[in-house]
Amino acid sequence: MKRDLVSLSDWSSEEIWEVLELAAHLKRELRAGVDHRHILAGKTLAMVFQKPSLRTRVSFETGMTQLGGHAIYLGPEDIKLGKRETTEDIAIVLSRYVDGIMARVFEHEIVEELARFATVPVINGLSDLLHPCQALGDMLTIWEKRRRLEGLTLAFIGDGNNVAHSLIHACARLGLSFRIACPEGYEPDEAIVAWARDQGAEVKILREPKEAARGADVLYTDVWASMGEEAIAEKKRHAFSGYTIDQDLIEQANPGALVMHCLPAHYGEEITYEAARSPSSVIFDQAENRLHAQKAVLALLLS
Ligand code: CP
Ligand code: NVA
Repeated sequence: MKRDLVSLSDWSSEEIWEVLELAAHLKRELRAGVDHRHILAGKTLAMVFQKPSLRTRVSFETGMTQLGGHAIYLGPEDIKLGKRETTEDIAIVLSRYVDGIMARVFEHEIVEELARFATVPVINGLSDLLHPCQALGDMLTIWEKRRRLEGLTLAFIGDGNNVAHSLIHACARLGLSFRIACPEGYEPDEAIVAWARDQGAEVKILREPKEAARGADVLYTDVWASMGEEAIAEKKRHAFSGYTIDQDLIEQANPGALVMHCLPAHYGEEITYEAARSPSSVIFDQAENRLHAQKAVLALLLS
């Protein structure tokens, strides 16, 4: 039976811990110069992108190379997903060539459809609804820095978007308490919040960034307008005015709190440049850990 990574809600806490442990192991060994090219020797990953990317594209491609496999980049102009042929046919055809598919898409249903029709594992490299690979790299980062996850509080300052949704899944599975400060109308998806609370997780929706930051171990943010929201970016800029991680907000959080951002960042909007470069910031460790966490996912799903 093939296994997909479409949503972290489909993965148990044990499975997520398996990824984190393997990621930490692969990272340690990479630093020590251990050759991992036997792990996915001869395997190919198709990387389908409907949207731009720096981290996802480069970390998946580099990850495949380090594991001895190969990755093929299929950009919006290559296969014209959703325009040239059906998603079903793309999934079936790709499965005849490659050993895994990573897809970054607009509608979440597209990645679900790829997973339904592909006979090889499908990995969600971001959809409008979710970004599970980001949350895995983030949990690895928090675990490395704090040596634990359970019992910590993550405060998300900003839009209840794809990144926030996957963090809610990850926090629920790994025992972190999640809270978000957002303006009215920009809350996370109700069904995702309800799912987390059903798992016994704590999810709080607040309005005041300072209230969310108080007692938090992690301050997290993301752009106010996501890819595909260019037409409402100006409206969101107004709505989110004041929802900025700056030095003042960091001082409200617990001593030693981590400042996190999935990147790309819009400095001066959701985070100040100074906060992103402060000693609390781990934003570039997060970016690096995308590589290690995804290598663990690839090793587990494709080998
Ligand atoms: N954080 C993240 O997914 O970055 P990219 O959009 O550059 O892949
Ligand atoms: N929420 C952002 C995340 C980018 C990695 C977006 O979807 O554009």
